[in-house]
Amino acid sequence: MQAIEIQQGIYWVGAIDWSMRSFHGYQTGRGSTYNAYLILDDKITLIDTVKETFASELLARVKSVIDPAQIDYIVSSHVEPDHSGAIPFMLSQCPKAKIITSLPNGEKGLKSHYGDLPYQGVKAGDSLSIGQRTLQFVPTPMLHWPDSMVTYCPEEKILFSNDAFGEHLASNQRFDDEVDKAALLYECQKYYANILMLYGRQAQTALKTLGGLDIKLIATGHGVIWRSYIQEIMNYYQKWSANSCEERAVIVFDSMWHSTEKMARAIAEGFAQKNIPVSFYDIKENHLSDIVTDILTAKYLAVGSPTINNQMMPTIASFLCYLKGLAPKDKKAFAFGSYGWGGQSIGLIEEELKAMGFTLILDKIRMMNIPSPAQLAEISRQLEKVL
Ligand code: FEO
Repeated sequence: MQAIEIQQGIYWVGAIDWSMRSFHGYQTGRGSTYNAYLILDDKITLIDTVKETFASELLARVKSVIDPAQIDYIVSSHVEPDHSGAIPFMLSQCPKAKIITSLPNGEKGLKSHYGDLPYQGVKAGDSLSIGQRTLQFVPTPMLHWPDSMVTYCPEEKILFSNDAFGEHLASNQRFDDEVDKAALLYECQKYYANILMLYGRQAQTALKTLGGLDIKLIATGHGVIWRSYIQEIMNYYQKWSANSCEERAVIVFDSMWHSTEKMARAIAEGFAQKNIPVSFYDIKENHLSDIVTDILTAKYLAVGSPTINNQMMPTIASFLCYLKGLAPKDKKAFAFGSYGWGGQSIGLIEEELKAMGFTLILDKIRMMNIPSPAQLAEISRQLEKVL
């Protein structure tokens, strides 16, 4: 395991998790990396560690450059264990190291995970001279934990951004221009949608602060390092955090005997008549984390379920619960579904869409048993009228 020099005297020493397919429920089809960076200066500094199970990979990469006992500081940008999990192990290898963490939440969080360790707390505006270089600490609370912070090195023009601007993408390429750009941007959008969508306001605040920095590299906590598309990813973060939507529709449904599915197809036809592109998700065949990635930038959302046991299908309930937690904004939505007798599911979905603050562009569409061709054509017509 070798370190990779990303700039003179600064090394990537992280770990590649090729096999991970779930990150607390978020489907990670391309794996991930846990990025850590080693800075050689008068005071040797490690920025972040890795998930505990990858500690030996981190150690081996550090050892390919220096004796780990020489490390003076470990900067902990974020308490979540994918970045801090190997701190206790690394401390056993570098006993003189102090852990730099945000005050008060970083120190509090690390203590409750790992107990009393040699912490050195930092606040907004604090900086640390490590020799030829300075590390400036910028708290980014709730991006996406209370303790989150980023570190800027002005002499190198590097922003160590931890989770911000990252993506779950396992690769042995380290830079943005070395990987497939479409896959990279998709994974960035997926990361933002599933991890950061809830914190758009905090992202806007952070972008204002970080926008004033002269940045040559963004060294993220996951995935690749940005060097060629820095402005592009900043622009995407601006767009996503401002809830800027495209003229696109997402249809999500479950179906028992294809009646709700027929209604979903009629709805797709209504959007098509107005030249509005549609993403069509039978929830049995798609993962929640992919669906919300699409919803992030879509203006319209239609959600459908038949009624089962006086409720909506549990798949749709789970989807709505996940979506509600992420608090998407400014969507135009409506509910639809078929039923045999009670038909409660459609009203329940509509209540959830209202509770999310969405604008309802159609009253709930309910159809008993099997919708006729005339009824389906009427759905398309009604939809066209309000688009
Ligand atoms: Fe990558 Fe919030 O940890």
